[in-house]
Amino acid sequence: MSQFQLNGQAVTVDVDDDTPLLWAIRDTLKLKGTKFGCGIGMCGACTVHLNGRAIRSCVTPVRAAYGQTVTTIEGLSPSGDHPLQKAWIATQAPQCGYCQSGQIMQAATLLRDFPTPTDADIDQVMGGNLCRCMAYPRIREAIKQAAAEIQGASHE
Ligand code: FES
Ligand code: FES
Repeated sequence: MSQFQLNGQAVTVDVDDDTPLLWAIRDTLKLKGTKFGCGIGMCGACTVHLNGRAIRSCVTPVRAAYGQTVTTIEGLSPSGDHPLQKAWIATQAPQCGYCQSGQIMQAATLLRDFPTPTDADIDQVMGGNLCRCMAYPRIREAIKQAAAEIQGASHE
C-alpha cells in the first residue's frame, strides 16, 4: 500500500519503497516547502512530522509513511496562522529562509513536549537544526513568543 495521509488528504505515490520520503513529498507530490540540505540526517532542513513527531524525511524511506499521517510545513496550519508561523513573522526570524520550514516543524514538536521551554530545552530539541545564516537568536525568540501565545490562549 503506497497510500498515506499528507496534510489531511489521502495521497498515493508510485515510487520505489526505499525512496526517501523527502523526494516523494517534493518531486512526486510537488510540495516544495520541505527542503533538501545534507541528505544524511544532519541538518534538519527536511524535517516533517510523521504521526505528529518530527523526523528527517531525507533519511526516512517512503514506505515508513504508508498508512501513516505526514504533515509538512504546508499543512501545519491551513491558513498559515499557527502561533509559530505568526511569531516567525513578528520576529523576522528567517534570513535566507532555507532552513526555516524545518526549524518550524521541529519547533512544533518542541512546544508539544515543553510548553514553556527554557533556553536549555530549546538548545536540546533544536540543536540539530542547522542554520547557515546564524538566525538562532531570532529563532529562539520566535519560539518563546509562540509558547507565550499558546499559553495565553490556554488560560483565556
Ligand atoms: S536534508 Fe535531511 S537532515 Fe539535512
Ligand atoms: S535562514 Fe538561512 S539557513 Fe537558516
